[in-house]
Amino acid sequence: MLVAVPDHSSGNSAETRAQDSADDRLHPLLRTRWSPMSFDAEHRSTRQETELLLEAARWAPSAGNSQPWAFIVGCRGDDTHQRLVKHLARSSSRWAPSAGLLIANLAHRYVEDTDWEYSEFSQYDLGQAVAHMTIQAQALGLAARQFRAFDRDGLAAEFAVPDHWEVTTMTAIGKPDAAPAAPAVGDSSRDRRPLLDLLWPH
Ligand SMILES: Cc1cc2nc3c(=O)[nH]c(=O)nc-3n(C[C@H](O)[C@H](O)[C@H](O)COP(=O)(O)O)c2cc1C
Repeated sequence: MLVAVPDHSSGNSAETRAQDSADDRLHPLLRTRWSPMSFDAEHRSTRQETELLLEAARWAPSAGNSQPWAFIVGCRGDDTHQRLVKHLARSSSRWAPSAGLLIANLAHRYVEDTDWEYSEFSQYDLGQAVAHMTIQAQALGLAARQFRAFDRDGLAAEFAVPDHWEVTTMTAIGKPDAAPAAPAVGDSSRDRRPLLDLLWPH
């Protein structure tokens, strides 16, 4: 299918193909990114890799440079990893523990001891920091799956996360133990809306 997307460089319309797989012109780190549900349980991330992933998050943009993020990082085999695993949902406990790294992603939601927002963009900014980390993982030959399937309150209690911080999501980062499989019939987990749908108004 061909869709018209405004070409702001020329003021004309450029024809772009809406595709089922990512456009070949995308940067390879974006084109080849996917969220595995199966990781190599032998692979361990080095300390340098882990630091680099956090460094990628550190350099994400944020509203007013508020940097409203923090991470609880568990490396498979360490105590933090074991404490994170305890709070996985049944679904994520099937695949997430085998990733070399399990990370809880925290957003700074409120000013301490108040109900004032610390930043109205804290979850938005956390998402960007995690996206940066995800692409850095890809550049290291690793892959990440972000997920919500865990007990947020249980995890917050486990690590004594104060009320003004929110445990938002988790990320499993590791070496995928398979190439992305062709989606099974009826599996829409990697479908994308057509490009034209992204323009407002439709
Ligand atoms: C905020 C967020 C929450 C997610 N929660 C889950 C989850 O609980 N379980 C899961 O298997 N995948 C989860 N995912 C992964 C998405 O299902 C996945 O990114 C989506 O299907 C697109 O596939 P792709 O990342 O391979 O392109 C989540 C992703 C995000 C960004």
